[in-house]
Parts: sequence; C-alpha cells; structure tokens
Amino acid sequence: MSDGEAKADLAADGDASSQKEERASYLSAEVNLGRRYFIIGATGGVASVGVVGAAIPFLQYWQPSAKAKALGAPVKIDISKLRPGEILSPILSYRGQPVFVIYRDEESLALLEEDSGRLADPNSESSEQPEFALNPYRSSRPEIGVFLGICTHLGCSPKHQVANIFPDSEQGGFFCPCHGSGFDLAGRVAAGVPAPTNLIVPPYRFSSDTEIIVGELEADA
Ligand code: FES
Repeated sequence: MSDGEAKADLAADGDASSQKEERASYLSAEVNLGRRYFIIGATGGVASVGVVGAAIPFLQYWQPSAKAKALGAPVKIDISKLRPGEILSPILSYRGQPVFVIYRDEESLALLEEDSGRLADPNSESSEQPEFALNPYRSSRPEIGVFLGICTHLGCSPKHQVANIFPDSEQGGFFCPCHGSGFDLAGRVAAGVPAPTNLIVPPYRFSSDTEIIVGELEADA
C-alpha cells in the first residue's frame, strides 16, 4: 500500500469512528432528554397531589399553538383531579385570556340559588354567557363553573377567595384587587362595585365526564 493510500485509510477510519462517537452521543442525548421529560412529568404529578385542598396546578394534556389560540382554537381542559372547593390554577389561555374552572360544593350551590339582593345582575341579563348558562350557577353542570378570569371593569385578573366575598357573608367567590370588585362563585358581580357586569362565561362543552373543551358548544361536536 502506498503512503497516500495508507493516509486515506486512516482518514476513513477516523471519520467512521467520529461518526460512531457522534451517533452514540446523539443516542445518549435522546435517552437523557426522554428521561428528563419523564422526571418533569412525574414531579408535576407529585406537586399536584401535594397541594390538594387549595388551588391545584392546571393539568393540561393538549394545547394548540400560540397562533391557533390567538385565532380562537378550542382548548381542552382535564378536570379529572378537580375536587369540590378547588379551582384549576394557574390557568391556560383561551384567545389570550385566562380561564377559571371551579368545582363548587353543595353548600356553595345552595347559596347561589338564594337571591340575596347583593348582586348587580343576578339573572345575568346584562352579562355575556352561552344560553345554557342562563341559570343561577351560570353553567351546564351545576357543580362546575367555567369563566374568563378577566374583571369586567378594566380587565385585571380577579383572585379566588374562599369566603367573605360580600361584607356580611361568608360566601366565597372572586375578588378583583384593582378597584375592589367582588363576584360570587357563579361569577356574578356584587352590587355597588366598579365592575358593571358578571364575569364572562366562554362557550364550552363537556367532551367526557372529566374533560371540557373551551371554545366549542354541544352544537359544534
Ligand atoms: S379592574 Fe377589577 S375592579 Fe377595576
């Protein structure tokens, strides 16, 4: 073999070996990446168990791209871990706006049925919601409430409050700290506060017992 041929063989061996190393490193990176995703997922699951009783992390298994969401693509919400008294939080965006999903217990539902005279629009006549939500719960299933988390005054984000949403009541609801507007657990605004109307109920439907699709109505299914 000539010197030139020997050098060419050595170079070919070097290329093959460096390709093998690159491939091994790529495979290793794939494995590590997969493992990292698994660990993040598992940690998230543990975290959600750890805070049951307060707000639970939002569990979402599918989300459209930012562009699709801006155009109003429907968003699926998994409510399988939501329990009475809890609210899904932090909240995903629908058309760039946050969504509240709350599970109201029986006591809360009973309070929503009373016309306490504390509400500005108790029958939601001046407010925005799908037709199915024209009831005291403003929802299709009494226990599950779905609202846009945007104050109808100047657009701040109200906070979930477990009690004392009205001065003389232990009733819970949502409170907007910007200018002091309170809403009950049906998103109905208190009388005499800056917010003029109830929280908006977006179009939504149940695709199963444990999943809601925000942005679609039953008629769209
Ligand atoms: S923005 Fe909520 S009270 Fe003003």
